[in-house]
Amino acid sequence: MRFPKNPFKFGTVVQGDFFTNRTAEIQEFSSILNSENHLILIGPRRFGKTSLIRTITAQSGRPVVYLDALMLTSAEDFSVQFLNKLFRLYPFERIKNMVKQFRLTPTLSMNPLSGEVEVSFSGSKSEATENYVLEDALNLAEKLSRPDRKLIVVIDEFQEVMNFGSGFDRQLRSVIQHHQNINYVLTGSQESLMRSLFEQKKAPFYHFGMLRYLGKIPHDEFLEYLSSRFSTLQTEAQVLAEAILQITGAHPYYTQQLAWQCWEVLRLRREEGLATLPDEVATEAAEKLTIVHDLDFDRLWNGMGTTDRKLLTRLSEGPIEALNSMLLTQTGLSAVSTAHSALKRLSESGIVIKSNSGYFIDDPFFSRWIQRKRRA
Ligand SMILES: Nc1ncnc2c1ncn2[C@@H]1O[C@H](COP(=O)(O)OP(=O)(O)O)[C@@H](O)[C@H]1O
Ligand SMILES: [Mg+2]
Repeated sequence: MRFPKNPFKFGTVVQGDFFTNRTAEIQEFSSILNSENHLILIGPRRFGKTSLIRTITAQSGRPVVYLDALMLTSAEDFSVQFLNKLFRLYPFERIKNMVKQFRLTPTLSMNPLSGEVEVSFSGSKSEATENYVLEDALNLAEKLSRPDRKLIVVIDEFQEVMNFGSGFDRQLRSVIQHHQNINYVLTGSQESLMRSLFEQKKAPFYHFGMLRYLGKIPHDEFLEYLSSRFSTLQTEAQVLAEAILQITGAHPYYTQQLAWQCWEVLRLRREEGLATLPDEVATEAAEKLTIVHDLDFDRLWNGMGTTDRKLLTRLSEGPIEALNSMLLTQTGLSAVSTAHSALKRLSESGIVIKSNSGYFIDDPFFSRWIQRKRRA
C-alpha cells in the first residue's frame, strides 16, 4: 500500500480540510461583519488569525479587499495596493470614471503578465497629496460598495501601519469612520501596540470596532482532529495525538508542525519495519524539529543579552506566573526592573507569550533546544 499523503500543513494560511474548529469564532465574527460593526482581532503570531479571517470572508461570499500591512512599505504603497485590489473586484469602466475625479490622477496600466490593471502615481509628492490619495482611494471603495453586498476590507497585521509615518493612523481613522458600506477587519499580533491603538481613550482607533482576542484551539477539539487523521495509520491514534498536544501545548502552528513530522516518522518507521509506539514517535519527531532549527535557535540565542538568556532558561523549564523575588533569585536576576523589561521585550518580539496562566516560550522546540544544549 502506498503511504497516504501527509494531511497536516503549517507555515501558510490554512483553509478547507486543513482548517479545524473555530466554530464559535466563525459564528460570532461573521455576525459582527453582518452588522454595522467593525472587527478588531488580536492574537499571538501563528495562532490562526489570517486563516480564520480568510475562512470567514470566503464563506461570506462578499467582495473582499485583503491587505497584509507587514508587506506594505509606505502610506503611498498602502493606497496603491488598495486601489489595485479594488480594480480586481469591480468593473473597470465604472472605476475608471470615478478615478478621474481624484485630486491626484493616477496612471492606469495593464500588467502584461497578470493581465491585471495596475495603478501608479507619478511626480513628486508632499504629505498633503499623499493624504489626498489615501482619502480618495478609501472613499472610492465606499462608493463602489453596495449596501446589499457590502465590501469587507481586511488590514492584517494592522500595527505595522504605525511605521508609515506619524499621522497615518489618524488620517485613516478620520476617513473610514464615515463609511457606511464597508466592514473593516483589523488584526494584529503585537498585543501592546494594538492595545495602545484601540483601547486607550486618546488613541486614534478608540472604540472603532468590536475588539476580540483569539486564543488557542481548544485541546479536546484539536485532539479529535489529530486522532481522526492519524487513525488511518496508527492504532493508538489518540495516544499519539495526546503526546503531540502535550509537547506543543495546543499551539495551532506548532501542533500542525509536529503532527506533520510525526506522520513522516511513522512513514520511515513503517518502511524500516520498526515499532511505532506513540510516545517514541512524538519524541523522535520533536527531536528532529529541534535539530532542524538548530541554526535559527543558535542565531537567536547569540543575539541575546544575559538577562534574556537567564529568563529563557528559566522559562524552558516551564511557564511562570509572574515575576516575584523567589523567582528572581532562582534565575540569578537581581533587579526586578531589568527582568521586567526583558520580559516585555521578549513578549513584544513574540518569543514569549503571555496568557491567563502566565508567561511561556512560544516555540516548544526552542524550549527543548535550550534544555538540550544545557544538558549536552
Ligand atoms: N483553525 C486551524 N486549524 C488547523 N490549523 C491551524 C488553524 N489555524 C491556524 N493553524 C495553523 O497555524 C498556522 C498559522 O496560521 P495563520 O493563520 O498564518 O496564523 P496568524 O495569522 O495568527 O499568524 C497555520 O499554517 C496552521 O498550521
Ligand atoms: Mg497572519
